[in-house]
Amino acid sequence: MIHSRNRRLRVNESIRSLVRENILTTDDFVMPIFVMEGENQQEAIPSMPGIFRRSIDLTVKECKELFSLGVKSVNLYMKVSEHLKDNTGKESWNKDGLMQQTIKAIKDAVPGMIVMPDVALDPYSIYGHDGIIENGKIVNDATNDALARMSVSHAEAGADIVAPSDMMDGRVLAIREALEESGFTDVGILSYSAKYASSFYGPFRSALDSAPKDNMDIPKDKKTYQMDFHNSREALNEVFKDIDEGADIIMIKPGLPYLDIVSKVREAIDLPIAVYNVSGEYAMVKAAAQNGWLDNDKTIIESLTCFKRAGADLIFTYFAKEAAMILNK
Ligand code: PBG
Repeated sequence: MIHSRNRRLRVNESIRSLVRENILTTDDFVMPIFVMEGENQQEAIPSMPGIFRRSIDLTVKECKELFSLGVKSVNLYMKVSEHLKDNTGKESWNKDGLMQQTIKAIKDAVPGMIVMPDVALDPYSIYGHDGIIENGKIVNDATNDALARMSVSHAEAGADIVAPSDMMDGRVLAIREALEESGFTDVGILSYSAKYASSFYGPFRSALDSAPKDNMDIPKDKKTYQMDFHNSREALNEVFKDIDEGADIIMIKPGLPYLDIVSKVREAIDLPIAVYNVSGEYAMVKAAAQNGWLDNDKTIIESLTCFKRAGADLIFTYFAKEAAMILNK
């Protein structure tokens, strides 16, 4: 005779919800947003159905909507005009640049919104790389100086947290020191600590036109700085270094194929962990849902809840708005 019946705690929704271990709420979400020049402009991104590049005015409108749905944080990416790109990425610290104007406009209109600008050179680089190139190589320390300048200019514009996604060595320390020296002691750093060289970033790179350029003299992928997807111990090494250098929140990216890394890092550290449900993961769910092969709403909620089960505290996801609408129903 069996006494122990696990199905007892699954007989109806009331008992299931009583013993539930992880709950997804809109508090967990960070919405990545693509911004472009212009006024009253919006362009669809073909490989990311439902996601748009918007001019600043429409971005502000979107932020108001997000905030009223309970999404209280946005992560910002700029589509930079070709003529502003160079090898140094100097447009990224222009105090009147698109990013700086966007940060100001959002903080003015929705002061409670946590604004997290992306810190990396790729949208500003003629080569589509996250670092400055010299003699065909990505140079680490000169890139860190650029990232530190960029971060201070984001802080001056009103950013709450800067989010370096570049994977240079020592950049968290360079950014922390520059922020402290400029008096921005309350501006946090969310570091993309374990960011893998991944083909799941494809739709994002087409959204910003930021893919590494096919030029014989430069690396055609990001494997000299982003991590090798065959590795997991290396992720802990990256995370510990970033914590030592002053990171407030650490990020693991991509998300769904990397839940083992989230779980491993969760066991090892007590800092908040962010995970990035990247553009390719979004595209996969949307493509299947549009074909009627997956249930859109249920698949979104399940995927996002799995991030929490793995140990993430914050979830960067293009589904943030849609998931908030589903959860608020
Ligand atoms: C670039 C950056 C990338 C993403 C965020 N910041 C792409 C890359 O590293 O090439 C990817 C996000 C996504 O795919 O949703 N610094």
